[in-house]
Amino acid sequence: MNTYKIALIPGDGIGPEVVLEAVRVLNRAAELDGSFSFHFTEYPWGCQYYLEHGEMMPEDGIETLKHYDAILLGAVGYPGVPDHISLRDLLLRIRHDFDEYVNVRPVKLLKGAPCPLKDVNREDIDMIFIRENSEGEYAGSGAWLYPDTEQEVVIQNGVFSRKGCERIIRYAYELARKENKTLTSISKGNALNYSMVFWDKVFKEVGKDYPDVETHTLLVDAASMFMVKDPKRFQVVVASNLFGDILTDLGAAISGGMGLAAGANLNPERTFPSMFEPIHGSAPDIAGKGIANPLATIWAASQLLDHLGHEDWGKKILDAIETMLEEKISLTPDLGGTATTQECGKALASLLK
Ligand code: NAD
Ligand code: IPM
Ligand code: MN
Repeated sequence: MNTYKIALIPGDGIGPEVVLEAVRVLNRAAELDGSFSFHFTEYPWGCQYYLEHGEMMPEDGIETLKHYDAILLGAVGYPGVPDHISLRDLLLRIRHDFDEYVNVRPVKLLKGAPCPLKDVNREDIDMIFIRENSEGEYAGSGAWLYPDTEQEVVIQNGVFSRKGCERIIRYAYELARKENKTLTSISKGNALNYSMVFWDKVFKEVGKDYPDVETHTLLVDAASMFMVKDPKRFQVVVASNLFGDILTDLGAAISGGMGLAAGANLNPERTFPSMFEPIHGSAPDIAGKGIANPLATIWAASQLLDHLGHEDWGKKILDAIETMLEEKISLTPDLGGTATTQECGKALASLLK
């Protein structure tokens, strides 16, 4: 029996509520399969931990996580702790220190999922965002000079390394080739005259190795417009850290909402564990009410199973999500239902075969 060691970081707000349901589903898949099982270890890191200990995780937190097969995270950030501390010291720290440089975020309108766009066929919304996840606008480089004076100046640098751009762009080309899909690069070279001009240059250079892949390039402002007006243009999409962040919330909005949007933070070399999470945050407005939609986290659990080589179970989970949407089984209020988080998770687990 293969036992996978999974670190759980439920985190803040609705994080623990949705992680519990994803764990239920993972255990159910393992039980039905019979050839593998999970050993979960929960870490209570997050904003409450910060208020008690003055840090988001212990000093040796990264060392502790290193030995797991994967990490499942709920959400981080809560009123009472500044977001730039809570997120940079936990979530972004893990992505960075484990070199999880690929953030895979599917934007797919499942059958039965609500979509606010008119005149769009369900099949037209089927993209996969490859977001750079280790540097760029999130590099954390900058300065705050003369604070609280008239001379105050803040500088936030974007860091775009050749290695960083090449590897994410290559990953996207490989995926497009493998899946026989088009690849769209999103940038902003008309205004960001260093970083994005460089990004576009690397996109062209790497593309020489993939003459078989049909490519498109779009400026990020036009890309946002086309995602709403003509989403079928997009198949595999590659974007920088910040552009990918923003566009995948837009992607969530057109494919069922935040309660259905998942992401995998991958270290493709598998030197370090990869981390799986919903793309939504801690949702303080609904935390503790038992109505958070767990399906995004369950979708992330499906990505986790794919990553561990159990694509059959990954697919079964995604199919079960689709069945629930189509047949309106135990959906939470964000999807027009009246189910609780737990009822939704239990319904999904019982649909698995
Ligand atoms: P959010 O994603 O937490 O919430 C945005 C809106 O979507 C809210 O109305 C919320 O109720 C709704 N929503 C989100 N997830 C839902 C779910 N599963 N089911 C039903 N409704 C859901 O974004 P925000 O309000 O901008 O941020 C709240 C906090 O979370 C902040 O501290 C922010 O920094 C943090 N955050 C963390 C992550 C993360 O941990 N990955 C991601 C985004 C935001
Ligand atoms: C996400 C989140 C994070 C990001 C925040 C919370 C730092 O918005 O995962 O999309 O910007 O990457
Ligand atoms: Mn985001």
